[in-house]
Amino acid sequence: MRKVVVLTGAGISAESGLKTFRDANGLWEGHDVMEVASPEGFRNNPALVLDFYNQRRRQLLEVSPNDAHRALKDLERSFEVSIITQNVDDLHERAGSTHVLHLHGELLKVRSSGNAKDVSHWKKDLHLGDLCEQGHQLRPHIVWFGEMVPAMEEAIALTRNAAILLIIGTSMQVYPAAGLMEFVPRGTPIYLVDPKPALRTDPNKMLKVITKNAVAGVPPLVDQWLREERPL
Ligand code: APR
Repeated sequence: MRKVVVLTGAGISAESGLKTFRDANGLWEGHDVMEVASPEGFRNNPALVLDFYNQRRRQLLEVSPNDAHRALKDLERSFEVSIITQNVDDLHERAGSTHVLHLHGELLKVRSSGNAKDVSHWKKDLHLGDLCEQGHQLRPHIVWFGEMVPAMEEAIALTRNAAILLIIGTSMQVYPAAGLMEFVPRGTPIYLVDPKPALRTDPNKMLKVITKNAVAGVPPLVDQWLREERPL
């Protein structure tokens, strides 16, 4: 089966009701990003950071995947689909996608502040005093600004083998995620679905931009690929 790598950002979850980061009323409203999404911010005011993620976790439990998430599940009928997402929501998993790699962590998991490998599922609010078994404060399992992106190596390996790269709903402003498209084999078709696309051309001239919202743009593209078995 041909390998499709899908790089998604906050835009694919926008129509599920989750705000993006850099649109006008972005998620950081009222908060400086370094205040709520950096190790320094957590050290300076852990209660503020824990409350910020508690609000996002509660909201995530209220929303559902949309037709763009579901179309990516359907794509698995005829393609080997690997989703590399910058999103910390679990909407790809809830839509049924079977191979999802989270570059920036997962909102429904927490980890020990003393041992990054001690990760557990967590759906309720997280408070100061919620400790791991070794007595360290639990923190959101999120990659904060300035922290390493452990899944990047695996993401690059997947992208190197892509027969098609599909990019959905990302401003391509945050590295190293934004640099992934450099790793596709030369001549690989790249599709970008975004109402305000961050890219217009690419050096290989293999980029096709679909200037639409994810829910309008992704299902028809997937249907076309499934019908043709071989994308244009
Ligand atoms: N459908 C598709 N794309 C959309 C939609 C939609 N309905 N609405 C907005 N978009 C697009 C915007 O045009 C923009 O290009 O989604 C993109 C959102 O960009 P950002 O808000 O920057 O989100 P993202 O690219 O995922 O941010 C990357 O930055 O803040 C950090 O760690 C955080 O993972 C995040 C990373």
